[in-house]
Amino acid sequence: MNWKQKSVIQNVTASLPRWLGSKIYYQMQRRFGKLGTADPRSRLEAGLRMLRYAEREGKAIEGSTVVEVGTGHRMNVPIALWLIGAARICTYDLNPYLRARLVLDDVAYMRANEQKIFDVFGDVAERAIFQKRWHRLMDMHVNADNFKHAFNVEYHGPGDAAKTGLADNSADLHVSFTVLEHISAAVLGSIMAEARRILKVDGLFIHHIDFTDHFAHADNTITHVNFLQFNEPTWMKLGGNRFMYMNRLRVDDMTALVLNANLEILHDDRLVDDRSLEALNSDLVVDAQFRNKSAETNATARQWVVARVLQDETVAA
Ligand SMILES: C[S@@+](CC[C@H](N)C(=O)[O-])C[C@H]1O[C@@H](n2cnc3c(N)ncnc32)[C@H](O)[C@@H]1O
Repeated sequence: MNWKQKSVIQNVTASLPRWLGSKIYYQMQRRFGKLGTADPRSRLEAGLRMLRYAEREGKAIEGSTVVEVGTGHRMNVPIALWLIGAARICTYDLNPYLRARLVLDDVAYMRANEQKIFDVFGDVAERAIFQKRWHRLMDMHVNADNFKHAFNVEYHGPGDAAKTGLADNSADLHVSFTVLEHISAAVLGSIMAEARRILKVDGLFIHHIDFTDHFAHADNTITHVNFLQFNEPTWMKLGGNRFMYMNRLRVDDMTALVLNANLEILHDDRLVDDRSLEALNSDLVVDAQFRNKSAETNATARQWVVARVLQDETVAA
């Protein structure tokens, strides 16, 4: 779909009373968008990648308490974490988007496609905890009343990840998948400070950020850096509505926020998009706020950032 048409539809829908706009937008996403079909694999892969990072740092997920920022409509990252052994998954979303119907469809997909799910998890699918939980997933009577409890999920929606209400030093992992790009820099600072407070001494902060212009996901006539040409007021008119809001922070800004929160970066895995790089190196004129950044920085499409809490003595040193 042409991105400008999508922007108009989103803005009109967002101007309706909140309950009505949300209902209409959800139905549109079900009919024409990403909520129309169930295929949980990309989020299960994300959960697996979180496990790989944790294990590289000597941290087990089995028995762990995980805090997730930005649940969204489905629960596939929490289900992946449950399958690989998490004991408690506390997930927060400012907007109560989670839908039982979608989660049940995802569970039905997993049950009907056992081999595809095992292929996602590879050798991890052979572990005793995975096998135990997989059999439970296959056998359990999961329904709209018990679907959160069945996967050890505590859902806080509406719930603000900047104010979790969890105890100090109580979380093993603090995670998100394609969420931080939708939150303002000021609020991100508060969420990171909260992560620092609730993470255990050996806890890990593991986040995946998608820096691309999300309008380009459904319109391949524009590049993933198309939105960098607009100044802030123009961009807010086009994509500042509650369905699309993107902070347009670049990978260097996000990394600086993590460091400013006194988190020590252990892994910083970036993917630069070639088509964006080509556009930036030829005719795309970006807004002044992006002009002093390198083309690689502006064209970074994705980042996995893994960090741990700097302890007070390390901060002081
Ligand atoms: C792109 S969506 C979620 C994507 C989901 N994680 C997935 O994998 O598909 C981003 C979510 O972050 C939520 N969000 C924004 N600010 C938040 C905050 N301060 N605390 C918790 N959730 C927040 C939004 O309501 C939205 O549902």
